[in-house]
Amino acid sequence: MKISVIGTGYVGLVSGACLAEMGNHVLCLDVDPRKIEILRAGSIPIYEPGLEAMVQRNVAAGRLSFTTDIQKSVEYGLIQFIAVGTPPDEDGSADLSHVVTAARTIGRYMNARKVVVDKSTVPVGTAEKVSAAIAEELSQRGVKIPYCVVSNPEFLKEGAAVEDFMRPDRIVVGADDAFGIETMRALYAPFQRNHDKLILMDVKSAELTKYAANAMLATRISFMNELALLAERLGADIERVRQGIGSDPRIGYQFLYPGCGYGGSCFPKDVQALQRTATENGLDLRILEAVETVNERQKAVLLDKIDAHFGKNLDGKCFALWGLAFKPNTDDMREAPARILIEGLLQRGATLRAFDPVAMEEARHIFGQRAGLSFVESAEKAVEGADALVVVTEWQVFRSPDFEQMALSLRARVVFDGRNLYEPHLVRAAGLTYHGIGRL
Ligand code: UDX
Repeated sequence: MKISVIGTGYVGLVSGACLAEMGNHVLCLDVDPRKIEILRAGSIPIYEPGLEAMVQRNVAAGRLSFTTDIQKSVEYGLIQFIAVGTPPDEDGSADLSHVVTAARTIGRYMNARKVVVDKSTVPVGTAEKVSAAIAEELSQRGVKIPYCVVSNPEFLKEGAAVEDFMRPDRIVVGADDAFGIETMRALYAPFQRNHDKLILMDVKSAELTKYAANAMLATRISFMNELALLAERLGADIERVRQGIGSDPRIGYQFLYPGCGYGGSCFPKDVQALQRTATENGLDLRILEAVETVNERQKAVLLDKIDAHFGKNLDGKCFALWGLAFKPNTDDMREAPARILIEGLLQRGATLRAFDPVAMEEARHIFGQRAGLSFVESAEKAVEGADALVVVTEWQVFRSPDFEQMALSLRARVVFDGRNLYEPHLVRAAGLTYHGIGRL
């Protein structure tokens, strides 16, 4: 099949590469010539395990190519994926201007039947807007060409996006048109493996499914974070509670981990956008509001613990920071709890020695040359001569440090574990003071 992907950001590039891997011919478009140059040179502008090799392989095989030529890309594919960004507006709603521009472009240049697929996370009702924008362009040109608009939300986790795309647990397709349904069935047939993963529905339900999934996951996290606060007050251990409830198959273990708050490009933005959609429709969704408020508070939980331990004046204190990215296996720092922590510690007069396996360049870009903040080349180097260690991201490499050595390196011998990576008694056995999230 011939496929065009408009927008070569995270979602567009992963989708394009994976569809090419399945034998399709894919042309990826981006308006940013620098990005296209990088991709043509065989590199990728983001960090995502397995993606670079997949891009190179498929470019070499002639199945994947990149362009900045909008007309060429519209004419190329029967399927036109729209995978452009939907950044939050000031009021929290999703900014659809890039999506609508992409739709207009399709209408302006299409020369044959097209199946237009919304891949970006867009509010309920966007497919109608996309359809109307295409119709308007076609009528201005005075031509009649059949097309339909399909919603096909992505459920890719950063750090596991290639795997998630190649082995999906479900493929949600919202389509109200027979040709659109058949085309999507054919496109995803190779991804089905042993059982049918395609869940067909109407367009609006598909649009809502994406937000509902992310909001549900964010709700679980905020709920656990709130219970962790209570556990601390009660002298209970949230990790035992997590195991105790996760073993109920109706609850399950996933996304029950308390920590220093969720971040990233999806949860914060999508929870807000869904709230906004509800308000626009005359509904005040209380749970969603609480999910966001609890998360904001949770992002400050490490600072609260540091204040309680050292007091608010941290002049002359040095902190080792392990992890900057909003989660492991990514260099993404959007809405990362580390950002709040760094700002808070610097404001209190502390100096910081930060290490992250891949996100340090991104952090340098965000913070520039800030007095008091330095980046070091290893986790061990960060700890040397610091007063305390703060763990912010749950990278595997941070999971089993040498606590004896750490006790020698840290002047104040304190560990603040924002992701509950360690068993408190093991850390304490080395002579360190341990503060986790909701732990005894
Ligand atoms: C998420 C969804 O998982 C994915 O399906 C959707 O397509 C996009 O949004 P992503 O943003 O990559 O993916 O991150 P995810 O792995 O879901 O983690 C989000 C945040 O929640 C991270 O900051 C993580 O550290 C935090 N988290 C996750 C917890 O605090 N506790 C948990 O139990 C799980």
